[in-house]
Amino acid sequence: MHLGVLTSGGDAPGMNAAIRAVVRAGIFNSCRVTGIRRGLLGLMAGEAQPMDLGSVADIIYRGGTILHTGRSPDFQNGQGLPSALEAVRALGLDGLVVIGGDGSARAALKLAQAGVRVVAIPATIDNDVPGSDDSIGFDTAVNTIAGSVDRVRDTATALERGFVIEVMGRDSGHLALAAGVATGAESILIPEFPTSMDLVCQRLKRGLERNKLHSIIIVAEGVAPAQVVADQVKEKSGMELRVTVLGYVQRGGSPTAADRILASRLGEHAVEVLLAARHGIFIGTRGNQTVECDLEQVARARKEIDQAMFRLAHVLSI
Ligand code: F6P
Repeated sequence: MHLGVLTSGGDAPGMNAAIRAVVRAGIFNSCRVTGIRRGLLGLMAGEAQPMDLGSVADIIYRGGTILHTGRSPDFQNGQGLPSALEAVRALGLDGLVVIGGDGSARAALKLAQAGVRVVAIPATIDNDVPGSDDSIGFDTAVNTIAGSVDRVRDTATALERGFVIEVMGRDSGHLALAAGVATGAESILIPEFPTSMDLVCQRLKRGLERNKLHSIIIVAEGVAPAQVVADQVKEKSGMELRVTVLGYVQRGGSPTAADRILASRLGEHAVEVLLAARHGIFIGTRGNQTVECDLEQVARARKEIDQAMFRLAHVLSI
């Protein structure tokens, strides 16, 4: 069997561990494996490289993706599909593993509907892909944010200041919520459950009354820029907050052990599914289990916020 593997969309720490798992599991099962460079953009251009055991040596701990990645509006609007199909045919791929976020799952569905044997696995720091509790890269990003917020807290305490810290997540709040709980933030603002600025100000005031030395507000980029939140707080309460936008540091770095293990499990399972002549499948996790879902259902759904986690954040930030 000839398998292809590509990484698509925003890079996420652990993508390399997933590539390694696909390549090693494929070769273990006597498959030929080809890496497609630059995601769907590269697939449309037929950019391929043979993968042997050595090609994935020494990458399990590296961030980014050795295959590179790309965002491909041409594929999403359907224009790139014919060239991608032609490349799959010319390369003679019997199966393709797509490693990426929700946009990549939708692209994988387009390929599957056009007859390509595709399996998709979730890799995005946003953790917003339905059908899986976890996505590759999320744990690393939460840890990176936690480390940064801890540092900001040191200076916040020293100068008795409040901070608004903006984190990524595109239009979802999974990353902000997990980071907020992990850092004990006083307020966590996410797009799915809007919080009134009055409540944010009340919490800040309560903190001051209790002689708290600092306050941390985590805002998901999908809500508003951190500076806008700081301006609104100033306008409503007169309180001055400093602003930190964490930006792309959240996407880089060596993957945590949890992300490496997750990537290894999902990558290997993807190969097992293709070897069993099954496809159009998304592989994720539920609890501690590896689970399979219909790719179409995943591509059409939106991942809900974990309500228990949101409530936990509310209770603990009293
Ligand atoms: O999807 C991952 C992500 O980092 C989002 O959190 C963020 O909104 C987006 O990618 C940024 O995209 P780009 O790398 O294209 O600027």
